[in-house]
Amino acid sequence: MRDDITVGALLKVIKLQLEGGGIENADTESELILMEELKLSRGQLASDSEKIIPDEKMELLERIVERRLKHEPLQYIFGKAYFMNIWFHVAPGVLIPRPETELLVEKICREAPQGAEICDLGTGCGTIALTVAYERRDVKVTGVDVSRPALRIAGINRQEWKLDNVQLIRSDLFSALSGRRFDYIAANLPYISPAEYQQLSAEVRDYEPELALQAEDDGLAVIRRAIASAPDFMKPEGRIIFEIGATQGEAVKGFMQATGKYADIDIIKDYNQHDRFVAGKIG
Ligand SMILES: C[S@@+](CC[C@H](N)C(=O)[O-])C[C@H]1O[C@@H](n2cnc3c(N)ncnc32)[C@H](O)[C@@H]1O
Repeated sequence: MRDDITVGALLKVIKLQLEGGGIENADTESELILMEELKLSRGQLASDSEKIIPDEKMELLERIVERRLKHEPLQYIFGKAYFMNIWFHVAPGVLIPRPETELLVEKICREAPQGAEICDLGTGCGTIALTVAYERRDVKVTGVDVSRPALRIAGINRQEWKLDNVQLIRSDLFSALSGRRFDYIAANLPYISPAEYQQLSAEVRDYEPELALQAEDDGLAVIRRAIASAPDFMKPEGRIIFEIGATQGEAVKGFMQATGKYADIDIIKDYNQHDRFVAGKIG
């Protein structure tokens, strides 16, 4: 028999366990664990702090904390990641959507012409494709990825949100898209160099797919290939945007300039004032 424990007491215990295990943001994460598993809002965590946790929940919560202490990201533990106004099913075969990508989605939603055809290169769990399609019901989005596990999960997400305006295709960049032309191409492709990859946290390196993160040639090999072939898949006036690492802006801009096919090339910063995107038009 275990002693009864209240919501408030357990919150403190979990926070201490996570802190002891070297988990950053133990405060927020302990709250998130209880909110998700007990289906409580943040306000209810405080107002229900004297409530006793049922035994069957205690076992589940212990297992969640054990997994988190092995540095498994909470999104994989819960199978769910929030992004803009929707959430995505996620599993170890796909990258967990990152908040900085929201800026890219907002820009496309603002700029894509009515009824636009949009391509999301390296769609992962469907992050960009499905969010744009959700926010802009008038557009048609094609999400491509080379990874079968990623496409399977993107398909589950498309079904979850009933987004009939999204097509998902297995393709190495544009290889399966011959004859197609798009008004807007979004590309959040792998951009981390092999050296940087070794420095990533255990959460990322031990759990997220390497194929989604790492690329040769200082992280630029896949983006560079996409820059070379994208003009053949863009409509006149078509736009393109790449998500990049903070030190890659000038290099990516340079690759685009060197093709002589792009105009209005811009390096765009994220909320932390780091270079995060390079955008351009077909010139
Ligand atoms: C950084 S993740 C981005 C996932 C998603 N777009 C997001 O923003 O959360 C990069 C994605 O590109 C895919 N990828 C890598 N190389 C690719 C290639 N040559 N062609 C198509 N997709 C590729 C990976 O499988 C992965 O899903």
